[in-house]
Amino acid sequence: MNAPLKGLAVQAPSYVRNAKLIAWVADMAALCKPEAVHWCDGSTEEYDRLCQRLVDAGTFKKLDPAKRPNSFLASSDPSDVARVEDRTFICSDKKEDAGPTNNWMAPAEMRATLQPLFDGCMKGRTMYVVPFSMGPLGSPIAHIGIELSDSPYVAVNMKIMTRMGKPVYDVLGADGEFVPCVHTVGAPLEPGQNDVAWPCNKTKYIVHYPATREIWSYGSGYGGNALLGKKCFALRIASNMGRDEGWLAEHMLILGVTNPEGKKYHVAAAFPSACGKTNFAMLIPPAGFEGWKVTTIGDDIAWIKPGADGKLHAINPEAGYFGVAPGTNIQTNPNCMASLDRDVIFTNVALTDDGDVWWEGMTEEPPAHAIDWQGNDWTPAIAKETGAKAAHPNARFTVAATNNPALDDAWDDPKGVAIDAFIFGGRRSTTVPLVTEARNWVEGVYMAATMGSETTAAAGGKQGVVRRDPFAMLPFAGYNMSDYFQHWLDLGKKLEALGAKLPKIYTANWFRKGADGKFVWPGYGENMRVLKWMIDRIEHKGEGTEHVFGVSPRYEDLNWTGLDFSAEQFDTVTHIDKAAWQAELKLHAELFQQLAHHLPKELSATKAAIEQRLAA
Ligand code: OXD
Ligand code: MN
Repeated sequence: MNAPLKGLAVQAPSYVRNAKLIAWVADMAALCKPEAVHWCDGSTEEYDRLCQRLVDAGTFKKLDPAKRPNSFLASSDPSDVARVEDRTFICSDKKEDAGPTNNWMAPAEMRATLQPLFDGCMKGRTMYVVPFSMGPLGSPIAHIGIELSDSPYVAVNMKIMTRMGKPVYDVLGADGEFVPCVHTVGAPLEPGQNDVAWPCNKTKYIVHYPATREIWSYGSGYGGNALLGKKCFALRIASNMGRDEGWLAEHMLILGVTNPEGKKYHVAAAFPSACGKTNFAMLIPPAGFEGWKVTTIGDDIAWIKPGADGKLHAINPEAGYFGVAPGTNIQTNPNCMASLDRDVIFTNVALTDDGDVWWEGMTEEPPAHAIDWQGNDWTPAIAKETGAKAAHPNARFTVAATNNPALDDAWDDPKGVAIDAFIFGGRRSTTVPLVTEARNWVEGVYMAATMGSETTAAAGGKQGVVRRDPFAMLPFAGYNMSDYFQHWLDLGKKLEALGAKLPKIYTANWFRKGADGKFVWPGYGENMRVLKWMIDRIEHKGEGTEHVFGVSPRYEDLNWTGLDFSAEQFDTVTHIDKAAWQAELKLHAELFQQLAHHLPKELSATKAAIEQRLAA
């Protein structure tokens, strides 16, 4: 509903009973000076109306309803296409609490910087009040956020990505807690000024105040910069909540694996952005794995709390997928392609002449002509001549989890699922073997802490450079990385002291290349072979060979039925090159030097032990 502003008083709907919320919305309206305030109720009718408003504004194009029912294409400003890590700040009271991997500014200084930017930033626009629950409504693991945004694109994306709408207020009640999230595209409209299709500002600030659990985002309308429930709340702010309250907020997919006997396991896996997390979360077991089933609980983020049973229980705080489109196709991820049949918001993919979408890698045969993500004519000949991409490499789809044919029955269970194993995987063309099991929790934390990955388009910046990405949390840990390692070690110790069986920890690398520069491991569904080995190990049935930093399978330890993969190929993706590992350990040393403040002693000791074994 649209509530007219009486002076600056903000009329909340009668079902909103939280006085703190109402006062905060009034304060923010007074600061941002929107033309109107719209309290989102999360209804389908509201979603449809806002999508139509976006079509009328030129932000959305409606796709052919026969081909792609209820779906839209948005094209962003070419300067606003990815998360902006260099503009992302953790404003803890002390710099050392943000740590060397985060940008920091003193809270008072940041507030003074943002105040003039937010003053009047929503002029001529509507401020949407977006109530959302991260996690099943009322789950003991879930938390509530309220995002104020002047972007209707954000409001409709939040409807798909979170449990958004009126029922959130029932959980919030009169005095419940919420994380306040303020977002503006930073493009106020003067009277009579025409809007553009994708308003944004070249000045950008993505700001977190961990002490007061606040998020302030200025200048971008895209993805994790603007959909504040995702990286800002569910990772950066929630990692702080987890540290204070004894739980984990992780950049992890969650999947269920059911064996032919009907026994079910749950795995949480951390991979840096654009390393195929969505593909892994929706994996279809290949030939040779008849009777096995893989189901999706989440594709990007896990909130994990110790339960009364001593096990770690995980929920997916999100309700939808904001996935990378390029490279997704019927071979790499059939479940994802089926999810995208209808009810999708696409951003920065190409528009085909028949009113559908296309992106690089979607089909072998490209369309003869399309409109690229920047609105230009695109043909295969133009692409060949100029290198122009039809879709931006970080083009995305937003789609509800309920569209996924492989959705796990427990995906919305407030109790979450009990985790049996953690996987940490990077994109490494050399050095790191296909899979390694840590011999204990500390060794696993070491593996996760020292993870490296070759960069991709998701974070902007240069591609193909190896950067250390501890726990795949480099851009997302909301406090000092070494304290975060300590939190993992402490939690393990605490659970062990309670006599709990801790999940096993693995590292995986699907991306090793051969001498010809091509990937050797077939990946995708074939990753099931690695998953099965992990489950065998959990059941104490799997064999392996122990080496300097853990246990890896030998060729004969994996099930090869249905796949032609030779022992030589297996050696290419698994062999441990001593010189490469000595060089790798030097990089671990560099990381540890950077993270020296509060670096847990156990991790330095683990490094020394690996070095000794390598030297032996
Ligand atoms: C994402 C990311 O969008 O990690 O999930 O960048
Ligand atoms: Mn992610």
